[in-house]
Amino acid sequence: MSQHYQHDVLVIGSGAAGLTLALTLPGHLRIAVLSKGNLSNGSTYWAQGGVAAVLDDTDTVESHVADTLNAGGGLCREDAVRFTVEHSREAIQWLIDQGVPFTRDDQTAREDGGFEFHLTREGGHSHRRIIHAADATGAAIFNTLLEQTRARRNIELLEQRVAVDLITERKLGLAGQRCLGAYVLNRDSGEVDTFSARFVILATGGAAKVYLYTSNPDGACGDGIAMAWRAGCRVGNLEFNQFHPTCLYHPQAKSFLVTEALRGEGALLKLPNGERFMPRFDERAELAPRDIVARAIDHEMKRLGIDCVFLDISHQPADFIKAHFPTVYERCLEFGIDITQQPIPVVPAAHYTCGGVVVDQNGHTDVPGLYAIGETSFTGLHGANRMASNSLLECFVYARSAAADIVAQLDQIELPTALPDWDASQVTDSDEDVIIAHNWDELRRFMWDYVGIVRTNKRLQRAEHRVRLLLDEIDEFYSNYRVSRDLIELRNLAQVAELMIRSAMQRHESRGLHFTLDYPQQLAEARDTILQPPTYCG
Ligand code: FAD
Ligand code: SIN
Repeated sequence: MSQHYQHDVLVIGSGAAGLTLALTLPGHLRIAVLSKGNLSNGSTYWAQGGVAAVLDDTDTVESHVADTLNAGGGLCREDAVRFTVEHSREAIQWLIDQGVPFTRDDQTAREDGGFEFHLTREGGHSHRRIIHAADATGAAIFNTLLEQTRARRNIELLEQRVAVDLITERKLGLAGQRCLGAYVLNRDSGEVDTFSARFVILATGGAAKVYLYTSNPDGACGDGIAMAWRAGCRVGNLEFNQFHPTCLYHPQAKSFLVTEALRGEGALLKLPNGERFMPRFDERAELAPRDIVARAIDHEMKRLGIDCVFLDISHQPADFIKAHFPTVYERCLEFGIDITQQPIPVVPAAHYTCGGVVVDQNGHTDVPGLYAIGETSFTGLHGANRMASNSLLECFVYARSAAADIVAQLDQIELPTALPDWDASQVTDSDEDVIIAHNWDELRRFMWDYVGIVRTNKRLQRAEHRVRLLLDEIDEFYSNYRVSRDLIELRNLAQVAELMIRSAMQRHESRGLHFTLDYPQQLAEARDTILQPPTYCG
C-alpha cells in the first residue's frame, strides 16, 4: 500500500546542502529529508580538499572574489560571487559551531592560547584559504551534520526513497503553479508514496554520472535538474561540465579522486619519462584552474598515446604526506602505490556540474514553493569553470539563505490539501531490464566520447541524434513499466544529457570548461545559456 506523508518542508537530498537547510530551519517545523540510497550516498561524503573561505587575516573578500571571477572565464555573476564570499566566514563558523573537526595548524599558536585552523591551497586560489579535515573533509562535515540532524526530533530522515517527480498545481490541473510535494519511490516497499509539503527543496547534487568516467558516487544522476525541468523551471549553463584533472588510474580503483590539495602542497604533474609539462601550458603550472590542467593532461595523453600521467609528491617528507593526505595515502597503498616513494598514475574524470536549475540568492526556482540548493542549482557563482572548494561553500551559503527565506514566508503558506495517489494502474512489471542497462552504458559512453573535454560540432550532432533515440525509448519504457531506481535515474540522466548537448550546441565559442575545435576563440561578450522548458512557469 502506498503512503501519504505531510511535512512543512520536504528536503530531497541528504548532502551538505540538504542537511544544512534542515538544521538551519526552526525546531517547530516538521521536516523530511530524503536520500535515494543510504544517507551518506551523495558527493558530500567523498569531498576531500575542503571548503574555500576568507579566514586568514592576510586574505580578503576582494581577493577571493577576483580569483573566482578569474577561474570562471568571464561568466560568473559577480553579485552571486560576492554574496557567497561575503557569507563564507559565517558559514564556516556555523560548521565549527556544529562541531566539524577541521584540521588545526599546530604551528601557529595564537596569542589567546588557541590554535588557528590549517588552510591549504588549490588551483586558481591566490591565497591559502581552504579549511579542511585532513583529506576527508566531506566525511567530517557529513558525519557532524548527520549527528546534529539525528538529535533533532522534528527532522525525519528517510533512506532508500527516490523522488520520481514533483507535484505542482499545474500538473494537477489546478489554478496556480505552486509546488505541492513529490511522488517518491520507497525502495523497500516498491510503492510510490505521496509527499505533500508547504515548501519543497531540491538538494539532489550534480549529474556527473552522465559520463563514463567520473569521480562521483553512483547517485549523481541529475535527478533534481530533470525534475525541475519537467515541472517548468529554467536551467542554465549545463554545457559547463567540470573534469577533475587527477583521478586515480587503476583498473580496480572506481571513481577515486586524488585531491587537488596535493598540488597545493607541491605535487607535480609529470609525463611517464618524468618530465613536467604544466609550465608549458600556464604560468601557474600545476595550480592553474582545473579546466586548464584537465585540458593539458588530455592534450598530452592524446599527443603521446599514453593511458595516464603521473602526480608526484614523493619529494615531500613522508610524515607530512601521511599526516595531510591519509585517505589518498591509504587508498593508493591498497593498489600497491606508496605515494611517499612513487608518483601516482592519474587521469581526468567528470567531477562537477557547474550549471543547473536557475535560482536567485534565496534558492527560489521558477516554480513557487520550489527551491534548489547545492550542486543541483545554478546560482551564477561558478561561471564557465568552478574554482576548487567553492562548491561546498555554495551549499552552506545558499542552504542558509533559503532557510531564512522559508522562515520569512511561513505565515503565508498553508499545507496543501490531499494530493492524488501515484497512478500505477497502466503499468506492469518489466521483463526487459536489459534495455535499461544497455541504455545506461550507451548514454555514458557517447557523452564521454562526444561531449567531453574537447568537443566539435560533429561530435555534438552525433550525441544529439543518439540521445533523442534514447529519450523516445526510455519514454516508452517509462509509460509501460513499473518504476525502479535504475529506470528513474536513466530517464533523468538522458534528460539532463539532452539539455547539456543542447546547451553545448548553442555556445559558439570556447570558454572555460566548454572547449570546441570548431569555435576555438572566446567571444567578446559573455552570455549564460538559459534553456526554457515547454512548461515554463515564468
Ligand atoms: P550531494 O552531496 O551529492 O547529495 C545529494 C543527495 O541527494 C544525496 O543524499 C542523494 O541520495 C539525494 N538524491 C539525489 N537524487 C535523489 C532523488 N531522486 N530522490 C531522493 N534523493 C535524491 N567540493 C568542494 O567544495 N570541496 C571539495 O573538497 C570537494 N571534493 C570533492 C570530491 C569528490 C570525490 C566529489 C565527487 C566532489 C567533491 N566536491 C568538492 C564537490 C562537492 O562535494 C559537491 O558539489 C557537494 O558535496 C554537493 O552537495 P549537495 O548537497 O548538493 O549534493
Ligand atoms: C579536490 O579535493 O581536489 C576536490 C576539490 C573540489 O572539487 O572543489
